[in-house]
Amino acid sequence: MPRVLVRTTGCQMNVHDSEKIENLLLHRGWSRASALEQADLLVINTCSIREKAEHHLYSELGLLREWKAAGAGRVLAVGGCVAQQEGDALLRRFPHLDFVFGTHSLRWVPAMADAARGGSRAARVEQTRSLDRFDWPERHPDFPDATPGRASLTVMEGCDMFCSFCIVPRTRGREISRPADGILAEARALVAGGACELTLLGQTVNAYGRHDRRRRESGRTGGGDPGAAMTIGFADLLHDLARIPGLRRIRYTSPHPSFFDTALVRAHAEIEALCPHVHLPVQSGSDAVLAHMRRRYTRRDFLASVEALRAARPELVLTTDLIVGFPGETDRDFCETLSLVREVGFVDSFSFKYSPRPGTPAAELSDSPAPELAQERLEELQALQREQTLTYHRSRIGQRTEVLVSGPSRRGGLQLSGRDPAHRVVNFEAPNGVVVAPGSLQAVDVVEASPHSLIGSLAGPHRLPTTQIVGGRVRTGRSLP
Ligand code: SAH
Ligand code: SF4
Ligand code: F3S
Repeated sequence: MPRVLVRTTGCQMNVHDSEKIENLLLHRGWSRASALEQADLLVINTCSIREKAEHHLYSELGLLREWKAAGAGRVLAVGGCVAQQEGDALLRRFPHLDFVFGTHSLRWVPAMADAARGGSRAARVEQTRSLDRFDWPERHPDFPDATPGRASLTVMEGCDMFCSFCIVPRTRGREISRPADGILAEARALVAGGACELTLLGQTVNAYGRHDRRRRESGRTGGGDPGAAMTIGFADLLHDLARIPGLRRIRYTSPHPSFFDTALVRAHAEIEALCPHVHLPVQSGSDAVLAHMRRRYTRRDFLASVEALRAARPELVLTTDLIVGFPGETDRDFCETLSLVREVGFVDSFSFKYSPRPGTPAAELSDSPAPELAQERLEELQALQREQTLTYHRSRIGQRTEVLVSGPSRRGGLQLSGRDPAHRVVNFEAPNGVVVAPGSLQAVDVVEASPHSLIGSLAGPHRLPTTQIVGGRVRTGRSLP
C-alpha cells in the first residue's frame, strides 16, 4: 500500500480539508505514513493569509528537492490557499513539484496522485459553485481519530465580504452554504462515531444561508429545483443540531460581527449545548481603520453585538483577532484598539502585523506605519492581552468546570489536558489508578491559573455524566467511582 503524509498550515477549515484529503486517499487504498521518510506522497495543504506563511512554503519546497530525489516514485503535491492563488505558476517555479490542487479541487486528489505516479504533472484550480464540494464519503475505518470526542464540519465556504486586506475571497471563492439536511446527517454520523463536541466551520459562518434567504424572499429560487435541498437560518440550524442526542457541545467559527441577528443572539440564551464562547474577530477599535478595512461595522455596532450576546449569556467569553500597522493607522487609532480590548475584556486574542496580500485593495495603500512601529504596537497589544488573560484565568480559581479531555498535557508528567466550555485549556491530574479516557467529559476543580491555561484537579465525587468512546462507540454514564 502506498503511504501518504499530509502537512497543514492555516485555519481550522484547512485542518478539516486535510482530514477530507486523507479520508479520500484511505478510501482509494492509501495508508498513512507517520514520517516523511516513509511517505510515497507528501501533500502540503497551505495558507496564504499572510506573506510569511507563503514564504515559508517556498523555502520548505526548496528543501524537499532532496527528499523527492532520494526515492524513486515519490510524489510531492501542494494544495490549499497558496495553490489556489498561484496555480500552475508553482509547477513552473518548482520543477520537482508533481501536482497542485486548489481549495475547490480536493475530490480530485486521489486521481491526481495516481496520475502523478504515472509521471504526469498537473494543476487544478478551477473554482466551482457546485454543492458537491460538501459531500464526503464516511470516515474510513482506518481514519485516525486525532481529536477524540471532537469533530468539525463545514457549513459554508468562501467569502463575499471582501475586506480590503484579505486574500480569502480570492483563495476560497464566493460564499456558498450547504443544505441543512446534509449538515444534520453528517453531524448525526459524527456523534454516532463518538463526537460529543462539534465545531461548525465557515469563513463567515454566521452568514450561513443568507444568500438563499434573500433569493427566497425576493421570489427568486436561483433557477434550481424547487424541491431541492435547502439551507435554513443559522440560528435554526443550531436549534436542529442541539436536538441530536449525545451532542453536548456546539461551537462555530469564524463569525462576522455583521451577522448577529436577534435569532442568533437568542440562540445563545436558549441552547444549552451552545458553548459560552465566541471567537469574534474585530480587527481594530478605530472607526477610521475599520472603514479603510471595509469591515462594514463601527466600534459602536461591535459593542452593541457584544452587549446583546452578554445579555443573552452572561458568562460568555469573547476572544478576537486584531491587526496592527494597517495603512494609515495613527497612534490614536492604535490607542482605540487598546481601549476596545479593555472595554470588551477579550479573554484572548490573536494579533498580527498587517501583511499586504497580492491583488487586495489595501496592498495599493502606501501609508503603512514603519515596521518597527508596527512591531512596537504588536508587543504593547500582546502585553495587554496577556494581563487580561491571566486576570480572567485567576477569576476562575475555585470554580468547577467540565473538561472535554484531549489527552496527556503538553506540560508533561502525569497531567491530562482538555478544553472547558469557554474553550480555555485546562490541565489537571487524576488520582492514582483513575483512568481518564480521551474524549470523555470530566468535572475538574480549578485550583490555579497560568498565563496559558487553567490548572485543576479531577473533581470528586464525579457528578457529571461522562461520555466515553469505547471501541468507536459512545458510552454515556458516570464513569468514575
Ligand atoms: N473570516 C474571519 C477572518 C479569517 S482570517 C473574519 O472576517 O474575521 C483570520 C485572521 O487573519 C483575520 O481575522 C485577521 O486578523 C488576520 N488577517 C487576515 N488578513 C491579514 C493580513 N493581510 N495581514 C494581517 N493579518 C491578516
Ligand atoms: Fe477575509 Fe473579511 Fe472574509 Fe474574513 S470576512 S475571510 S477577513 S474578507
Ligand atoms: Fe489561511 Fe486559507 Fe484559512 S488563507 S486562514 S488557510 S482560508
